[in-house]
Amino acid sequence: MRLLVVGAALGLAACASEPPVREAPVEARSAQAREGETSTPAPLEKPEWTLLVHGGAGALSSGSLSAEREAAAMAGLDAAMEAGAAVLREGGLALDAVEAAVRVLEDDESFNAGRGAVLTLAGKAELDAMIMDGRDRNAGAVAQLRFTKNPISAARLVMEQTPHVMFAGIHADALAAHSGLDMREEDYFVTEQRLDSLQRVLDQLEEAKNTGTVGAVAMDREGNLAAATSTGGMMAKMPGRVGDAPIVGAGGYADNASCAVSSTGHGEYYIRTSFARMVCARVAEGMSAEAATQATLKEIADLGGDGGAIVISHDGSVSLAFNSAGMYRGQIDARGVKETKVYPD
Ligand code: GLY
Repeated sequence: MRLLVVGAALGLAACASEPPVREAPVEARSAQAREGETSTPAPLEKPEWTLLVHGGAGALSSGSLSAEREAAAMAGLDAAMEAGAAVLREGGLALDAVEAAVRVLEDDESFNAGRGAVLTLAGKAELDAMIMDGRDRNAGAVAQLRFTKNPISAARLVMEQTPHVMFAGIHADALAAHSGLDMREEDYFVTEQRLDSLQRVLDQLEEAKNTGTVGAVAMDREGNLAAATSTGGMMAKMPGRVGDAPIVGAGGYADNASCAVSSTGHGEYYIRTSFARMVCARVAEGMSAEAATQATLKEIADLGGDGGAIVISHDGSVSLAFNSAGMYRGQIDARGVKETKVYPD
């Protein structure tokens, strides 16, 4: 295949390559809170492991989705959560869990990542992704992939098999191909539904949307955090545009000392606010995951943007927050919490 030839010509080194928030079960509360001995709710016990996923925030108001599309998206979130949870239940790494979850979402055309990604003005998919390991803040990212089936695995490849953090364009695809990742022709990523949406935007029957993006954050049994984000970006974006998703500190961040974040929304605002890093800085200063996420989403709103994020703090508290109409989201943890949602609570 052409890319393999490109990779070989470059002489690249071969390389390896439980949904949204439900109140925790009663047994997870402290004995003190159960007995009602104080009016201040005691903190929930930290679960042994936790995984959050998102399938994008945006114009997802109640009734805007057909029952069929909503059910398909919920099934996709569920499958992604199960893939990540299977890793964590066995004592696996948060890093492996977020990659496993995001790969499922990339393969599911309900979401704006991998197959079914939104299209550029030229009708092509250009895919961005990042992954980050909270143990040592190692990170990898790819931008403008056009042939790699699972961009999140290409991002991990960059992190683990190169001395760099980000690759872009044809060289990123060539690295992935030469390293044995699954490659596809460009048509694989383009679905009828996305072509129809692009046409409506080009006909100016519809505003270009920033819905989509997928992501996962996890805490494993050792307390390690990891984050992963993958996207096709914005519908009808200019070819060459890169959003927040592959930018460490904007589309995602992970640091065992503070938190793990995966963002979704209008990427330009997330870059301008260093969104994911800001959430973690606020957690490091003592804010809860929810307070830190809300404060940073307010910065996005103040600039005129919208979107959301999933966050796990080092203390095990979580946030699945958004300031858009809805966000596909899911939470699963070792206590038996398992839930998916799309609309506000
Ligand atoms: N948040 C995804 C993007 O703007 O590209």
